[in-house]
Amino acid sequence: MKPFFFTVVLCLTTLFGFPTASSYALTDSGITIGPYIQRLTARAATVLIRTDESETLACFYRKVGAQKWKSLTDSAASTTHRYRLTQLKKGISYEYYIGTADNRLTQTYTFHTKHTVTANDPLSVAVVGDFGELTANQLSVVTQMMAWQPDMLLTTGDNAYDSGTLDEFRVNLFNPYQPLLAELSVYPSLGNHDIETENGTPYISLFELPVKRSGTERYYSFKYDVARFIALDSNSDYVPGSAQYTWLENELAETDEQWTVVYFHHPPFSSGEHGSTSDMQDSLVPLFEEYDVDLVLSGHDHNYERNVKINDVVYVVTGGGGKSLREQENENPYSAVFQSDYHFVGLVMTGKELKLKAIDTRGFVFDSITLDSTDR
Ligand SMILES: [Fe+2]
Repeated sequence: MKPFFFTVVLCLTTLFGFPTASSYALTDSGITIGPYIQRLTARAATVLIRTDESETLACFYRKVGAQKWKSLTDSAASTTHRYRLTQLKKGISYEYYIGTADNRLTQTYTFHTKHTVTANDPLSVAVVGDFGELTANQLSVVTQMMAWQPDMLLTTGDNAYDSGTLDEFRVNLFNPYQPLLAELSVYPSLGNHDIETENGTPYISLFELPVKRSGTERYYSFKYDVARFIALDSNSDYVPGSAQYTWLENELAETDEQWTVVYFHHPPFSSGEHGSTSDMQDSLVPLFEEYDVDLVLSGHDHNYERNVKINDVVYVVTGGGGKSLREQENENPYSAVFQSDYHFVGLVMTGKELKLKAIDTRGFVFDSITLDSTDR
């Protein structure tokens, strides 16, 4: 019951200064992945955890400051454990841990249900891409993201190198990101490396994504108060007539939030190593323009690049999450800022403003723009 990865995590947390797991002997816990949060709404959250042996566990949770713990217990012994916490209250902090009646397996973690977005309490979103390889630079980026304290995390794909196996997700994503993923919800998108194993089956099995509107976890949509977020699968067919294109057009037509942010792996406009994706310019870009998408985020090229507004749409490449960096290698007449640096993108959103910041491994903001919703 001494999974290798906990040794790795503990060594790395010592090296890179992660918040350490209080007093629990994690090496003896039998936990292989997690705990991590998914589908966090104003009223509910899913807590997931995997163990190396089949057992019956429970999730103990309460509002921060409450006296009594509530609990949800597995219906049968298993190595995969899922708890859907419901009847939560909006904009409130909750704490939880996993264990049994007389044995805690994890430290206590805290998460916040979705809140009403105001000028004083904006929505903060971290975005990262091309990171899942357990590099020192990946860990430096995570450390900065944690210091930034986002409400949620989006990814622009290539979440687990080299071929998206379950073990690669465990070692390269869920271990190094564990302190972050235990306290907020990640909404990933599929990179080309993520689908190399059984067309993304490990990815699909690990994430619990909002499929209510799309019917698939490969592309999906959700809102957070003032903003609609749409994750696409740029590995799958997206040209007119495809299921994904038809779904996206309907989704964009129905969207009435102040902001629409679309994100996926392959960039429509890029001067990085892979360059622009021309069939995307022919198919998806006209949709983004017709339905007033504000911001399109992609990865795949291992750098940061912001384009000038193209027919009122901002396109940003954020692929510097940890995998080896690449240089500017292709023509892109729209390129405004290109930087080959490890980083994440932070969005700070209210009903009126969307601020985008590119933040490097020292916490330095090396690029920023502000969009005003009244300009549209
Ligand atoms: Fe990629």
